Amino acid sequence: MTHPSPQPRTGIARIPVYSAALPGTTPVLFRASSNEAATAPSEAVVAAVTSATRAGNRYPALHGADLVAALAVAVGQPASRIAVGDGSLSLLNYLLLAFLEPGHKVVYAWRSYEAYPICVLTCGGEPAAVPLAADHSHDLDAMAAAIDENTDVIILCNPNNPTGTAFGADALAAFLARVPSHVLVVLDEAYRDFTGAAVAFEATELLEQHPNLVLLRTFSKAYALAGMRVGYLVGSEEIVAAVAAVLPPFPVAAAGVAAAVTSLGEPVVREALVRTVVADRERMTRVLTAAGLPVVPGHGNFLWIPLGDEAAELAGRLRQAGITVRLFAGEGLRITVGEPGLDQAVALALAAGETGA
Ligand SMILES: Cc1ncc(COP(=O)(O)O)c(C=O)c1O
Repeated sequence: MTHPSPQPRTGIARIPVYSAALPGTTPVLFRASSNEAATAPSEAVVAAVTSATRAGNRYPALHGADLVAALAVAVGQPASRIAVGDGSLSLLNYLLLAFLEPGHKVVYAWRSYEAYPICVLTCGGEPAAVPLAADHSHDLDAMAAAIDENTDVIILCNPNNPTGTAFGADALAAFLARVPSHVLVVLDEAYRDFTGAAVAFEATELLEQHPNLVLLRTFSKAYALAGMRVGYLVGSEEIVAAVAAVLPPFPVAAAGVAAAVTSLGEPVVREALVRTVVADRERMTRVLTAAGLPVVPGHGNFLWIPLGDEAAELAGRLRQAGITVRLFAGEGLRITVGEPGLDQAVALALAAGETGA
């Protein structure tokens, strides 16, 4: 007699696999595949984490209350409008868990952050991917038009991963005016610190007028804490209360809380990192453009090279030179910037390719 095995929920089999950096035979000299910060956390952060570890037998504060309090000051919002979690991606899952009816739609741009369809299917929803405009930016008109009576959530990624495009406050306000007030709009601002001045804006200023808007932010990029897994969201009290209902009681490890709180007190460190990234982004844009490659003007800590079918060959060549990038085969490749010497290494690899060396 055969016994049926436990079966995952319908939809789980449709979940795409989160991609990995290309494997290769040469040692990795530059890890430019994961949009991480190139610099290690500061000594003050390391000391705070060490001290939190010494008290690691105790649970951290309920709901990460100490981090929430520090963020309330940093963001200029009441603590009741903030929730923290083990990375902003985790918070996206909790938002969907709280606001998405089974089988209902989540509208997002495509290509955008590859985790979005994973999160939507994980939470029992139906992904509704809206193609990017020809210039690789969000097609906000098409996204507004894609909303129907089954749409519960919209995710916007600004700047967009992997294309690096960004929209400004006016475009967002015009979009929000077209979204029904019962539809949750998640603005993923993972790369907000790197946004060029011409399009940068403070999205918290839109929250009062648009209570269906929620902001997702992370310590993984400009705060150089990707390995500590800390993110936060800012939204209405009602949204935060609904997320709090499904969040685990201790959503961030004590070490993560200590790292994040300490890094909030070191704006100079973050500003230096951002300056390095922006300068390197400009240098790398010049290197790639000089080599005749198409480069989308980028607002994140990365650049997008929409090479289509030729992307794989270039990714392979860079990998041979010890540089890992993120390849989306048939579409393009994304290269993280901010590591000293990477632009020269890329220039050398490209020149070697030209000469056939
Ligand atoms: C657009 C976007 N959102 C969220 C994340 C994940 O952030 P976290 O490390 O806070 O989970 C990433 C990571 O690369 C990202 O690119």
